[in-house]
Amino acid sequence: MCAQTISHIKTVFSFVGENSAMKSFIECMDKQYKLGKKEAITKGLGLGMLQIATFCSYSLTIYIGALAVTRRSCDVTPADIFICNFRYLSNAAPDLQTFSQAKAAGKEVFKVIKRKPAINYESNGRILEKVTGHIEIREVDFTYPSRKDKLILQGFTLVIPAGKVVALVGSSGCGKSTVISLVQRFYD
Ligand SMILES: Nc1ncnc2c1ncn2[C@@H]1O[C@H](COP(=O)(O)OP(=O)(O)OP(=O)(O)O)[C@@H](O)[C@H]1O
Ligand SMILES: [Mg+2]
Repeated sequence: MCAQTISHIKTVFSFVGENSAMKSFIECMDKQYKLGKKEAITKGLGLGMLQIATFCSYSLTIYIGALAVTRRSCDVTPADIFICNFRYLSNAAPDLQTFSQAKAAGKEVFKVIKRKPAINYESNGRILEKVTGHIEIREVDFTYPSRKDKLILQGFTLVIPAGKVVALVGSSGCGKSTVISLVQRFYD
């Protein structure tokens, strides 16, 4: 449902449905969060026990190794102990890779979260004192921000008197939906 809301965000905004969409998203996330918390605790306990056993065995190896070196009871050098424990250190490598992957992915996500678009809740735009419903588009040139090199509308003019029903007709890709998007102020 969340994915559908995002992919049809223009339709949601057109019907002023963003607040109810956000509410149901929060409700949905809340359930997921509670479930996730329970799952994390159970997993954490299980994994924690396993880690305790693993790390205790590591400590035991190092302790016995240290005893063998200091008491010189057998022919063991500190380098042997290091080599013996090196594979434990190499276990960390896949986790380090996860950190760098998360950092790279997180950078893009935070860029989107921190982005302050010109058209947002704080910018109300021009609030008209009296709305009669007369729509006039005059000499409009328009390019989409993502494709600045492609002019979609060039000197576009259209007058729709209040109360008149008008159909925009034209070949696919000529800019009909773009005109409606501009009237709805999805773009300035
Ligand atoms: N968000 C966007 N970013 C970049 N280019 C876009 C975007 N939306 C539409 N376009 C491009 O703008 C042009 C006009 O598209 P638009 O959707 O307004 O046409 P349309 O007349 O509504 O077409 P259709 O009859 O198929 O619905 C097309 O070339 C399209 O590829
Ligand atoms: Mg269209």
